[in-house]
Amino acid sequence: MKIIRVKDDREMSKQAARRIIEQVRQNPESTLGLATGGTPEGTYKELIKDYQENQTSYKQIRTFNLDEYVGLAPDDPNSYHFYMNQNLFDHIDIPSENIHLPNGLAEDLEAECQRYDDLIAELDGIDLQILGIGENGHIGFNEPGTSFQSHTHVETLTESTREANARYFESLRDVPTHALTMGISTILLSREILLMASGEHKAEAIYKLFYEDVDEQMPASILKTHDNVTLIADEQALSRME
Ligand code: F6R
Repeated sequence: MKIIRVKDDREMSKQAARRIIEQVRQNPESTLGLATGGTPEGTYKELIKDYQENQTSYKQIRTFNLDEYVGLAPDDPNSYHFYMNQNLFDHIDIPSENIHLPNGLAEDLEAECQRYDDLIAELDGIDLQILGIGENGHIGFNEPGTSFQSHTHVETLTESTREANARYFESLRDVPTHALTMGISTILLSREILLMASGEHKAEAIYKLFYEDVDEQMPASILKTHDNVTLIADEQALSRME
């Protein structure tokens, strides 16, 4: 795993955006894997700024998001559909038919998971996948204990993940208990992965990622077996490594 150490969240966002823009410009038909949450917010702002200043086009780009809550409609302000529209898609020229997120309202969730994996495969996989990391080491919503062989599936969120995400909801009670998430094996099929981490609350997870064995109790540890992963982390996230 290559490590890029940066000063702060702002620098992390810029570095990640630079790599994404380079990918989009080199291959305007790329497929990007995208994440939500606090980590990529600055990166999406950088992409929008670049789009406005340099007209980098996303007309032929396709995207697959990592995850979506079960039970939230796309227009629910807490859904990841809504987050992506607000934070990125509404501000660039990507056609809506090129945007893919799991459907958390699907009647048959298992069939929806299969559909999602099939579609990723049909479109020849993900060129560049963006990842954040949970404080408990999750990637996507693959919580500790998830099989490394997992495909897109329904995940029961841990209390710590629900608490970490409660900041976006009115109360912890409103945070869904389940999500649809790309599986670990789905993520590992990506040709390149950018893992991002900023802030002291991520320091423990980053420390474990490097110093503990590859183990299903630490989902992100599997990234050490992939041959094209770059961690972009700020000083605080790397603070336990010294
Ligand atoms: C979001 C996702 C999650 C987050 C992780 C970190 O799509 O897949 O794995 O990346 O929970 O969340 P933040 O960035 O809010 O600290």
